[in-house]
This record gives sequence, C-alpha cells and structure tokens, in this order.
Amino acid sequence: MKTEHTNSIVSVFPTSILTSNMNFNEDERGNLLKAVYDIYDNDERGKRKASENKKFGYTTFLSKINLNNDPRFAKLKDLIGQDLNSYINHINIDCSSQEVYLSEIWINIQAPGTYVAAHRHHNCIMTSVYYLQVGDGAGELIFIDAKESHYMILPEYSKETKYNAISVKITPREGLNIMFPSWLMHEVAHNLSNKDRIIIGFNYKIRKAAKLKDK
Ligand SMILES: [Fe+2]
Repeated sequence: MKTEHTNSIVSVFPTSILTSNMNFNEDERGNLLKAVYDIYDNDERGKRKASENKKFGYTTFLSKINLNNDPRFAKLKDLIGQDLNSYINHINIDCSSQEVYLSEIWINIQAPGTYVAAHRHHNCIMTSVYYLQVGDGAGELIFIDAKESHYMILPEYSKETKYNAISVKITPREGLNIMFPSWLMHEVAHNLSNKDRIIIGFNYKIRKAAKLKDK
C-alpha cells in the first residue's frame, strides 16, 4: 500500500512596505523645492552638523523635525496621511482605543557623494519618506532583514527571492513615497548623481486615544 504524503509551505511574519506616487504639478513641486532650500538656507546648525557628523556616517543635511504644521507641506501631509490609513487597514491596527499620530516631519538633503548609515526610527510606529528630487544614479534605499538570527548560517542560493534575501533595495524616483514600519533597519546608498537627493520624512507614533466624553 502506498504511503500518503503531502506537504505545504506557508510564509510567516511578512513585512509590508507601502509605495505610492505623488506627482505634483510643476508649480506645486517648485514650491516644495523652494520651501526645502529656504529651510536649508536658514539652518546654520543643520549645515554645521552635516559636516561634523561625517565620521558617524551621517553626511546629509537634516532639518529640525518640527515641520508638522508648516503650511508649505500641508498637501503632502494629507496625501501621506491617506497612505497611512491604507497601511493601518492593511495590518489591522485597532484605532478605537489608540491613535497613530504624526510626530515629526523633517527634510533631508543628501548632496552628491553622501549616504545614510543603517538605522531605525526609534519610538515610532511608521515612517514614510517622500522623494522630492532624485538624480540619475542617486542610490537605493536598502531595507535590511530584521531576522538577524538567521545570519549565523547563510547558505548560498541559486537565485535571490523574497524568501531568502537579506536586503531589499528600492531605487528612488521623483514623486515616490515609501512607507515602512519604523523598526525596520534601513540605509541609503551613496548618492552618485550630480543632484541633491531630497527627501521629506514623516514619523508616526502611537498613543492612547483621548477618552470619549461622557454622554
Ligand atoms: Fe531613516
């Protein structure tokens, strides 16, 4: 009698990344670029930090993180908020007892030759990066597999797939938004283009929802 044998494979703990396109018209994009460089021009501290921090791997200009209520970013904030809602629905965050709120907006100007070392966005739940300006060869955003314990034995693979990759690279383009969980380690490859790579970043945190008022 033949032995019955069947098997099946399921994937567990997948990590979801949302991408969207936001192609502003020429005027809107021009206004965003102007806002970014106005902020840069008026931030001597940020410019100084960008050169001082070279040895730590942070070679790019980081603005202050307090641009949440800057009206120049209001439309972008609204569109990214819509992406956030899609992501919240996707992973079923329960918003009846807690809220996911925007904690920070900042700009990052990555001049030619600069890069960003691997990091996470601590104390946040979701992070989004919008690419306002990207030159040819600007370098990828690289996500690094969070399942670090499997690095202790790495076989050779005949083909890279999402089931065996230890990093995932996304080539940026203008108008691209990438939203990902803030715990996911990531780095940014050297900007090999001759243009500033400009990112507008968003961090979201979580807190208990305000108590409903007594009826
Ligand atoms: Fe980051």
